[in-house]
Amino acid sequence: MAPEDLAPNPLAEGLEGERRSPPLALVIFGASGDLTSRKILPALERLARRRALSPNLVVVGVARSDMDDAQFRELALKVVPDPSPAWEDLVASFRYVAGDYTDPTTFDRLGQVLADLDQGAGTAGNRLYYLATVPGLFGPVARSLARAGLSRAPREGGFARLVIEKPFGRDLASARELDGELHGAFEERQLYRIDHYLGKETVQNVLALRFANTIFEPVWNRRYVDHVQVTVAESLGVGHRGGFYETAGALRDIVQNHVMQVLGLTLMEPPATVEAKDIRDEKVKALRSIVIPAPETVAADVVRAQYDAGWVDGEYVVGYREEEDVSPDSTTETFVAMRLEVDNWRWAGVPVYVRTGKRLPKRFTEVALQFQRVPHLSFATSQSRDLLPDALVVRIQPDEGITLRFGAKVPGQAFAVRTVSMDFSYGAAFMEESPDAYERLLLDAMVGDPTLFIRSDEVDQSWRIVEPVLRAFEDDSVPLARYEAGTWGPPESDRLLARDGRRWGAF
Ligand code: BG6
Repeated sequence: MAPEDLAPNPLAEGLEGERRSPPLALVIFGASGDLTSRKILPALERLARRRALSPNLVVVGVARSDMDDAQFRELALKVVPDPSPAWEDLVASFRYVAGDYTDPTTFDRLGQVLADLDQGAGTAGNRLYYLATVPGLFGPVARSLARAGLSRAPREGGFARLVIEKPFGRDLASARELDGELHGAFEERQLYRIDHYLGKETVQNVLALRFANTIFEPVWNRRYVDHVQVTVAESLGVGHRGGFYETAGALRDIVQNHVMQVLGLTLMEPPATVEAKDIRDEKVKALRSIVIPAPETVAADVVRAQYDAGWVDGEYVVGYREEEDVSPDSTTETFVAMRLEVDNWRWAGVPVYVRTGKRLPKRFTEVALQFQRVPHLSFATSQSRDLLPDALVVRIQPDEGITLRFGAKVPGQAFAVRTVSMDFSYGAAFMEESPDAYERLLLDAMVGDPTLFIRSDEVDQSWRIVEPVLRAFEDDSVPLARYEAGTWGPPESDRLLARDGRRWGAF
């Protein structure tokens, strides 16, 4: 068995908190870029601060920018506002390789640096490559690494792993093409595809909630659940990422990855163990049970929309078409709502509604299960007018926790029943601070735990679900609706649920 397969699984072994990276060279491609400064280096700093990194860990930056080791170190100190002494120590060993990603000599020089580090800095022939580049370079960099003999560990027992970030392709065909390129250079067990939603504590808590308790799982199915809702709402617009967003849209940016991953965990069957393979097998099985939208039903079951100017948080904001680097006649969607169906024993007949959008009134992500009404309500309508169906809401962010909504008697002489809610809040229940998603995932990749990374077949399945919708957007068979910034999307989104006698949120 390959060494990667033997890595400790913290979910399985309860090692979180004591975990520490092995000696390794962390090679960041795109070292002078935005992702490195915004996410990777700050996450590394937090890991260094809490002593989760081996003293024999060395960061090697690779990028086209003409920098030397000293300038890269300066950058690494600058991007962290209040750097710890542990960070300063770590940064002092940072190395930098400048060069073009298509030039083989870049990889030869990198190979030399890595060999030197194994000799002089004790990195032990372990390599973690992080592709923080534009997606067009994923395949070429992987290929160049393989060509330079860097996609395999130089010694028995060492490892070489490749971390990549979405987008994993633009559609099913390009995702498969990318996979082909990656698999030409690395084996699947070496690939760590990041979806930062899986690094969120509350997303992982869906597993704990469902499979560590007896009271939820028995009702987590078609016999009790009326429908499922997933909302990923953002109040921000596209900011300075207009150029990128124009090529993506909400379906590619959020639904194909984050929403599908959350759905996978929500809909899956209990895994045999919490080992990576078991969890990923069950997730992909759940995704395979989601009915692929038929071209003729897409228009009825999907809403596509774009925001106009409006007010968010008391501030006037421009419409999407007026954003920086956005075409004035752009048809890119900033909002998607969909009705999905799941064909399996657990969920047959239970619709799953998902929605995501930018410039909505507030930022929150949640998964809600609304339960069926009781088969017979003994109370008169006048006594139960304010009674909503029971619901269980997993609040993924920002106010992390769980809400259970149910009916209770209103105090007083009369017998009236009204909806109340019981709240569990992470902030109130735990003293421990949640690690940031990148911090968590970076350490997972270092110790070789792939549980919270996306396997190739999951990417494939997610694209298969969104592919017909992408096509329908492209050929305009789903018209582009409009919504004012600071509202909950277009009226079509409410109508999608109203048609089935249901409504969004209000949990
Ligand atoms: C990213 C998207 O994957 O997720 C962004 O590209 C989006 O457009 C972000 O804003 C949302 O992440 P979070 O963690 O803020 O919910």
